[in-house]
Amino acid sequence: MSLDLKSLVRTIPDYPKKGILFRDITTLIEHPAGFKESVERIAAQYRGQGVTHVAGIEARGFIFGAGVAIALGTGFVPIRKKGKLPGETIGQNYALEYGVDTIEIHADVVGQGDTVLLVDDLIATGGTAIAAVGLLRRTGATVKDAAFVIDLPDLGGAKKLAAEGVAVNALMG
Ligand code: PRP
Ligand code: ADE
Repeated sequence: MSLDLKSLVRTIPDYPKKGILFRDITTLIEHPAGFKESVERIAAQYRGQGVTHVAGIEARGFIFGAGVAIALGTGFVPIRKKGKLPGETIGQNYALEYGVDTIEIHADVVGQGDTVLLVDDLIATGGTAIAAVGLLRRTGATVKDAAFVIDLPDLGGAKKLAAEGVAVNALMG
């Protein structure tokens, strides 16, 4: 496994707003070996660590999170944008680099005794991931690790998430 994964992510300026350098993972996941290696590199860090569930954040977090759950042999917890889950939900508002949003999980999906690994494609300001960790912890579940394909360190999200007691791993900066 020696692919340069970073070279498979393209950067698109001024999307979705002027001034944003958008890191586009579609070029990574279109590459069969790049996609597989991304998922395997994340999963390799958590084998044998007692993870019971992998939670992925809609939408791009589903792509990598589902793969990591399969690789680890755990269930997958979808963290969805508001109004998409059919059962009883709990929700959390948050701010992101280019707007505001709400995420939700099913209220009964995880709880005390579960250890959840959070997976997303990218951490920028950390608003989304911190909201997701807060939401999962409200159920009584343990969340001590979060994995991302991309960290944008200048936006400080990984540091803020670490301050919440979450060990953060990213495949590239
Ligand atoms: C993106 C990305 C992360 C989040 C990171 O998702 O996939 O979830 O932003 O930003 P933050 O660290 O500043 O919170 P987005 O809300 O754009 O949704 P998408 O996956 O549906 O495109
Ligand atoms: N989510 C938040 N900031 C982003 C960025 N710069 N590129 C891609 N996704 C993002």
